[in-house]
Amino acid sequence: MDTKRLFALALEAANASYSPYSRFRVGAALLCPDGTVFTGTNVENRSFGLTVCAERSALLAAVSAGRREFSGIVIATPDASYPVSPCGACRQVLSEFLSAEAPVAFGATADDIVETSMGALFPHDALHELAANQR
Ligand code: THU
Repeated sequence: MDTKRLFALALEAANASYSPYSRFRVGAALLCPDGTVFTGTNVENRSFGLTVCAERSALLAAVSAGRREFSGIVIATPDASYPVSPCGACRQVLSEFLSAEAPVAFGATADDIVETSMGALFPHDALHELAANQR
């Protein structure tokens, strides 16, 4: 995974953030095995609980475009002073499509990026067998 390149795309996506409540922009760049990248940003709502994070925006865009296999994801949080990791809800949702080995990287700036994996962020993942068919 070309983390620096994906971080630049995630940073660009963060510029589209709709975050009037938190003033905290987030961008995500999700990599497909063929090199295609889907980006997403956080979209907040005045009914706070309906906010959609950048990671889920990117994933939903990719799945809506017919993709289901992903090689990794990079997240940019330019308004933070340290690398901010995906929230618990996003870890669960990403784990539906990213394997435990898939790289996950996140940073506030390009020169301080934490590189980890889906399995490290979301251990003891289970119940994939419940997806009985491909629909
Ligand atoms: N947020 C994300 O989009 N992804 C993360 O990994 C952390 C949090 C968003 C949700 C909300 O719009 C804002 O950042 C502050 O929590």
